[in-house]
Amino acid sequence: MLAIIGGSGMTQLSCLEIAHRRIIRTPYGEPSGPLTFGQINNRDIVFLARHGHGHTIPPHAINYRANLWALHSLRPSHVIAIASVGGIRADLTPGRLVVPDQIIDYTYGRNFTFFDGTDQRVTHIDFTLPYCSQTRMLLLQAAKIANESVFDNGVYAATQGPRLETAAEINRLERDGADMVGMTGMPETALARELGLNYATLAVVANHAAGRGTNVQGIPFKEIYAVLERAMVNVRNILQQAVNCDGD
Ligand code: HPA
Repeated sequence: MLAIIGGSGMTQLSCLEIAHRRIIRTPYGEPSGPLTFGQINNRDIVFLARHGHGHTIPPHAINYRANLWALHSLRPSHVIAIASVGGIRADLTPGRLVVPDQIIDYTYGRNFTFFDGTDQRVTHIDFTLPYCSQTRMLLLQAAKIANESVFDNGVYAATQGPRLETAAEINRLERDGADMVGMTGMPETALARELGLNYATLAVVANHAAGRGTNVQGIPFKEIYAVLERAMVNVRNILQQAVNCDGD
Protein backbone atom coordinates (compact mmCIF):
# COMPACT_ATOMS: atom_id res chain seq x y z
CA MET A 1 0.00 0.00 0.00
CA LEU A 2 1.24 3.44 -0.97
CA ALA A 3 1.30 6.20 1.68
CA ILE A 4 0.98 9.84 0.67
CA ILE A 5 1.82 12.81 2.87
CA GLY A 6 0.03 15.89 1.58
CA GLY A 7 1.55 19.33 2.05
CA SER A 8 0.36 22.91 1.63
CA GLY A 9 -2.28 23.04 -1.06
CA MET A 10 -3.02 19.37 -0.59
CA THR A 11 -4.79 18.82 2.70
CA GLN A 12 -7.22 16.56 0.86
CA LEU A 13 -6.85 14.24 -2.09
CA SER A 14 -9.79 14.73 -4.39
CA CYS A 15 -9.03 11.62 -6.48
CA LEU A 16 -9.25 9.47 -3.36
CA GLU A 17 -12.33 7.40 -2.66
CA ILE A 18 -12.41 7.53 1.10
CA ALA A 19 -13.19 4.31 2.91
CA HIS A 20 -12.52 5.33 6.50
CA ARG A 21 -10.39 7.47 8.80
CA ARG A 22 -8.40 6.14 11.73
CA ILE A 23 -6.79 7.96 14.63
CA ILE A 24 -3.48 6.33 15.47
CA ARG A 25 -1.70 7.08 18.74
CA THR A 26 2.05 6.61 18.87
CA PRO A 27 4.72 6.64 21.61
CA TYR A 28 5.53 10.13 20.29
CA GLY A 29 2.02 11.53 20.57
CA GLU A 30 -0.59 12.11 17.93
CA PRO A 31 0.00 12.57 14.20
CA SER A 32 -1.19 15.71 12.42
CA GLY A 33 -4.63 14.11 12.07
CA PRO A 34 -6.41 10.86 11.45
CA LEU A 35 -5.04 8.70 8.66
CA THR A 36 -7.37 8.54 5.69
CA PHE A 37 -7.69 5.14 4.05
CA GLY A 38 -9.17 4.77 0.63
CA GLN A 39 -8.62 3.88 -2.96
CA ILE A 40 -7.18 5.54 -6.04
CA ASN A 41 -7.86 3.60 -9.25
CA ASN A 42 -9.10 0.71 -7.09
CA ARG A 43 -5.79 0.46 -5.24
CA ASP A 44 -5.54 0.95 -1.49
CA ILE A 45 -3.65 3.96 -0.25
CA VAL A 46 -3.32 5.87 2.99
CA PHE A 47 -3.18 9.66 3.15
CA LEU A 48 -2.01 12.02 5.87
CA ALA A 49 -2.27 15.82 5.74
CA ARG A 50 1.03 17.03 7.16
CA HIS A 51 -0.35 20.38 8.36
CA GLY A 52 -3.61 18.88 9.65
CA HIS A 53 -6.94 18.55 7.90
CA GLY A 54 -7.66 22.30 7.98
CA HIS A 55 -4.01 23.36 7.53
CA THR A 56 -3.63 24.51 11.14
CA ILE A 57 -0.18 23.15 12.10
CA PRO A 58 2.85 25.28 11.13
CA PRO A 59 6.02 23.53 9.89
CA HIS A 60 7.96 23.87 13.17
CA ALA A 61 5.06 22.46 15.23
CA ILE A 62 4.38 19.35 13.15
CA ASN A 63 4.83 16.12 15.09
CA TYR A 64 7.03 14.54 12.43
CA ARG A 65 7.91 11.55 14.62
CA ALA A 66 4.27 10.67 15.26
CA ASN A 67 3.43 11.11 11.57
CA LEU A 68 6.20 8.81 10.38
CA TRP A 69 5.66 6.29 13.17
CA ALA A 70 1.95 6.04 12.37
CA LEU A 71 2.63 5.50 8.66
CA HIS A 72 5.38 2.99 9.42
CA SER A 73 2.98 0.96 11.55
CA LEU A 74 1.03 0.23 8.34
CA ARG A 75 4.14 -1.09 6.55
CA PRO A 76 3.58 0.97 3.38
CA SER A 77 5.36 -0.03 0.16
CA HIS A 78 6.43 3.59 -0.42
CA VAL A 79 5.88 6.95 1.21
CA ILE A 80 5.43 9.84 -1.21
CA ALA A 81 5.78 13.25 0.40
CA ILE A 82 4.24 16.20 -1.42
CA ALA A 83 5.93 19.45 -0.44
CA SER A 84 5.64 23.01 -1.70
CA VAL A 85 8.89 24.89 -2.19
CA GLY A 86 10.29 28.22 -3.31
CA GLY A 87 12.38 28.00 -6.47
CA ILE A 88 15.98 29.18 -6.18
CA ARG A 89 17.39 27.75 -9.41
CA ALA A 90 16.28 29.91 -12.33
CA ASP A 91 14.44 27.12 -14.14
CA LEU A 92 12.42 26.19 -11.05
CA THR A 93 9.59 28.58 -11.78
CA PRO A 94 6.14 28.56 -10.13
CA GLY A 95 4.15 25.45 -11.04
CA ARG A 96 7.17 23.27 -11.89
CA LEU A 97 7.55 19.88 -10.23
CA VAL A 98 10.80 18.37 -8.95
CA VAL A 99 11.89 15.06 -7.47
CA PRO A 100 14.85 16.21 -5.33
CA ASP A 101 17.82 13.91 -4.76
CA GLN A 102 19.57 15.81 -1.98
CA ILE A 103 18.70 17.84 1.09
CA ILE A 104 20.42 20.30 3.43
CA ASP A 105 19.05 20.81 6.94
CA TYR A 106 18.85 24.35 8.34
CA THR A 107 16.10 23.59 10.87
CA TYR A 108 16.57 23.68 14.64
CA GLY A 109 14.69 22.86 17.81
CA ARG A 110 12.63 20.08 16.22
CA ASN A 111 12.40 16.48 17.41
CA PHE A 112 14.64 15.11 14.73
CA THR A 113 15.41 11.51 15.74
CA PHE A 114 13.89 8.33 17.14
CA PHE A 115 17.28 7.42 18.61
CA ASP A 116 17.51 9.73 21.59
CA GLY A 117 16.42 7.69 24.62
CA THR A 118 19.03 7.31 27.38
CA ASP A 119 18.18 3.60 27.34
CA GLN A 120 19.11 3.29 23.66
CA ARG A 121 22.44 2.48 22.08
CA VAL A 122 24.01 5.23 20.02
CA THR A 123 22.68 4.70 16.51
CA HIS A 124 23.86 6.36 13.31
CA ILE A 125 22.10 6.05 9.99
CA ASP A 126 23.59 6.37 6.53
CA PHE A 127 22.14 9.46 4.87
CA THR A 128 24.49 9.91 1.91
CA LEU A 129 21.54 9.55 -0.45
CA PRO A 130 18.65 10.89 1.64
CA TYR A 131 15.80 9.78 -0.61
CA CYS A 132 14.91 6.20 -1.54
CA SER A 133 16.07 5.62 -5.12
CA GLN A 134 13.22 3.18 -5.82
CA THR A 135 10.58 5.64 -4.64
CA ARG A 136 12.21 8.37 -6.71
CA MET A 137 12.11 6.06 -9.75
CA LEU A 138 8.46 5.30 -9.06
CA LEU A 139 7.65 9.01 -9.12
CA LEU A 140 9.69 9.68 -12.25
CA GLN A 141 8.17 6.72 -14.06
CA ALA A 142 4.66 7.73 -12.99
CA ALA A 143 5.25 11.28 -14.22
CA LYS A 144 6.44 9.96 -17.57
CA ILE A 145 3.37 7.78 -18.03
CA ALA A 146 1.13 10.65 -16.92
CA ASN A 147 2.87 12.90 -19.46
CA GLU A 148 3.69 15.39 -16.69
CA SER A 149 7.01 17.17 -16.83
CA VAL A 150 9.15 16.90 -13.67
CA PHE A 151 12.77 17.75 -12.95
CA ASP A 152 14.84 14.78 -11.91
CA ASN A 153 17.26 15.88 -9.14
CA GLY A 154 17.75 19.02 -7.12
CA VAL A 155 18.92 20.05 -3.69
CA TYR A 156 16.20 20.88 -1.16
CA ALA A 157 17.11 23.34 1.59
CA ALA A 158 14.95 22.79 4.69
CA THR A 159 14.51 26.04 6.62
CA GLN A 160 12.88 26.61 10.00
CA GLY A 161 10.04 28.94 9.07
CA PRO A 162 7.34 29.85 9.59
CA ARG A 163 8.60 33.08 8.11
CA LEU A 164 9.90 33.08 4.56
CA GLU A 165 13.57 33.84 3.94
CA THR A 166 15.37 37.10 3.29
CA ALA A 167 16.87 37.65 -0.15
CA ALA A 168 20.35 37.38 1.41
CA GLU A 169 19.44 34.04 3.00
CA ILE A 170 18.37 32.74 -0.39
CA ASN A 171 21.71 33.87 -1.85
CA ARG A 172 23.46 31.96 0.91
CA LEU A 173 21.36 28.84 0.27
CA GLU A 174 22.28 29.05 -3.39
CA ARG A 175 25.99 29.34 -2.54
CA ASP A 176 25.50 26.22 -0.42
CA GLY A 177 24.22 24.42 -3.52
CA ALA A 178 20.47 24.53 -2.86
CA ASP A 179 18.03 24.59 -5.78
CA MET A 180 14.79 24.94 -3.82
CA VAL A 181 13.69 25.87 -0.31
CA GLY A 182 10.93 24.49 1.90
CA MET A 183 10.12 24.17 5.59
CA THR A 184 9.06 20.56 6.09
CA GLY A 185 11.68 18.37 4.42
CA MET A 186 13.54 17.93 7.68
CA PRO A 187 13.38 16.11 9.97
CA GLU A 188 10.75 14.21 7.96
CA THR A 189 13.24 12.76 5.46
CA ALA A 190 15.72 11.66 8.13
CA LEU A 191 13.02 10.11 10.33
CA ALA A 192 11.76 8.13 7.34
CA ARG A 193 15.28 6.76 6.86
CA GLU A 194 15.58 5.91 10.56
CA LEU A 195 12.46 3.77 10.19
CA GLY A 196 13.70 2.24 6.93
CA LEU A 197 10.81 3.64 4.91
CA ASN A 198 10.98 3.92 1.12
CA TYR A 199 10.47 7.67 1.08
CA ALA A 200 10.81 10.34 -1.61
CA THR A 201 9.52 13.85 -2.15
CA LEU A 202 7.57 15.34 -5.02
CA ALA A 203 8.23 19.06 -4.66
CA VAL A 204 5.89 21.65 -6.14
CA VAL A 205 7.38 25.07 -6.84
CA ALA A 206 4.86 27.50 -5.38
CA ASN A 207 6.83 30.72 -5.89
CA HIS A 208 10.17 32.19 -6.82
CA ALA A 209 12.22 32.25 -3.62
CA ALA A 210 12.71 35.62 -1.92
CA GLY A 211 14.58 38.09 -4.11
CA ARG A 212 14.36 35.85 -7.18
CA GLY A 213 12.43 36.16 -10.43
CA THR A 214 9.49 38.49 -10.03
CA ASN A 215 9.87 38.47 -6.24
CA VAL A 216 12.59 41.07 -5.82
CA GLN A 217 10.35 43.25 -3.64
CA GLY A 218 8.45 40.50 -1.85
CA ILE A 219 6.46 37.31 -2.19
CA PRO A 220 2.78 37.63 -3.19
CA PHE A 221 0.90 35.07 -1.11
CA LYS A 222 -2.26 35.24 -3.17
CA GLU A 223 -0.39 33.99 -6.22
CA ILE A 224 1.09 31.09 -4.26
CA TYR A 225 -2.33 29.63 -3.51
CA ALA A 226 -3.42 29.94 -7.13
CA VAL A 227 -0.21 28.27 -8.35
CA LEU A 228 -0.58 25.42 -5.87
CA GLU A 229 -4.18 24.84 -6.79
CA ARG A 230 -3.27 24.55 -10.46
CA ALA A 231 -0.22 22.37 -9.81
CA MET A 232 -2.17 19.92 -7.68
CA VAL A 233 -3.93 18.76 -10.83
CA ASN A 234 -0.53 17.67 -12.18
CA VAL A 235 0.41 16.13 -8.84
CA ARG A 236 -2.79 14.09 -8.79
CA ASN A 237 -2.14 12.82 -12.32
CA ILE A 238 1.27 11.60 -11.18
CA LEU A 239 -0.10 9.99 -8.02
CA GLN A 240 -2.74 8.13 -10.01
CA GLN A 241 -0.02 6.58 -12.15
CA ALA A 242 2.21 5.97 -9.12
CA VAL A 243 -0.44 3.77 -7.47
CA ASN A 244 -0.76 1.82 -10.71
CA CYS A 245 3.00 1.32 -11.07
CA ASP A 246 3.31 0.39 -7.39
CA GLY A 247 0.74 -2.37 -7.80
CA ASP A 248 2.41 -3.88 -10.90
N1 HPA B 1 10.48 29.36 1.32
C1 HPA B 1 10.29 28.37 2.21
N2 HPA B 1 9.32 27.49 2.12
C2 HPA B 1 8.46 27.60 1.09
C3 HPA B 1 8.59 28.62 0.13
C4 HPA B 1 9.66 29.54 0.25
O1 HPA B 1 9.82 30.48 -0.57
N3 HPA B 1 7.57 28.45 -0.75
C5 HPA B 1 6.86 27.36 -0.35
N4 HPA B 1 7.39 26.85 0.77
